[in-house]
Amino acid sequence: MFITFEGPDGSGKTTQIRILASTLIEAGFSVVVTREPGGTAIGDQIRNVLHDTANTAMSSVAEVLLYSASRAQLVEEIIRPALADGRIVLCDRYADSTMAYQGFGRGLDRGMLADLTAYATGGLKPDLTIYLDLDVSDGLARRRNEGEEMNRLDLEAVHFHERVRGGYRLLAAADPGRWITVDADRPAGEVATEIRDIVLHRLSVSR
Ligand code: TYD
Repeated sequence: MFITFEGPDGSGKTTQIRILASTLIEAGFSVVVTREPGGTAIGDQIRNVLHDTANTAMSSVAEVLLYSASRAQLVEEIIRPALADGRIVLCDRYADSTMAYQGFGRGLDRGMLADLTAYATGGLKPDLTIYLDLDVSDGLARRRNEGEEMNRLDLEAVHFHERVRGGYRLLAAADPGRWITVDADRPAGEVATEIRDIVLHRLSVSR
């Protein structure tokens, strides 16, 4: 099963993935945790280019091609082989981030993005997408308070992040069979319990 985590910066995806991974491993599942951009040696080099705050001149087209290149590598090198081995793949961001950030945030044509993503992934879609929904200013504040490094996207205006959030909500509403929206404005333990129950239920149904 292929499970992706989406949400604004600072929504706690990384913490939740870590907790879910240990819960699933304890329950006897074989789990692979990965992330975008990155997750492979080549992808991590692409990630550095994408996140470098010195790269203010990067065009939106160059940006989306780099995210897609990192994704193509990750799908071929890590995700498809793991799924073929019957493992559960937990991925911190995937193609829906491109739709939310480059489509709704930057305003790139969403039909073109869908085609590009289909090409980059060979059509591989998640079985389940957990969307951690959080107010934009709360997310950015969390990120600053936790002293995390601000990447090129974090430095975008609040309006940009509002468009991203609006985009996520539309995507989630359009495909309720795949998307689960979780309110991330709660203690991490509470969020983790909700996610665990959803995922264990899905796993029992799909057996
Ligand atoms: P990362 O440091 O992984 O942050 P987070 O903890 O928020 O996931 O940064 C990933 C950044 O890249 C994030 O700001 C969202 C952005 N992004 C895109 O704009 N498009 C994409 O396709 C992906 C995968 C990420």
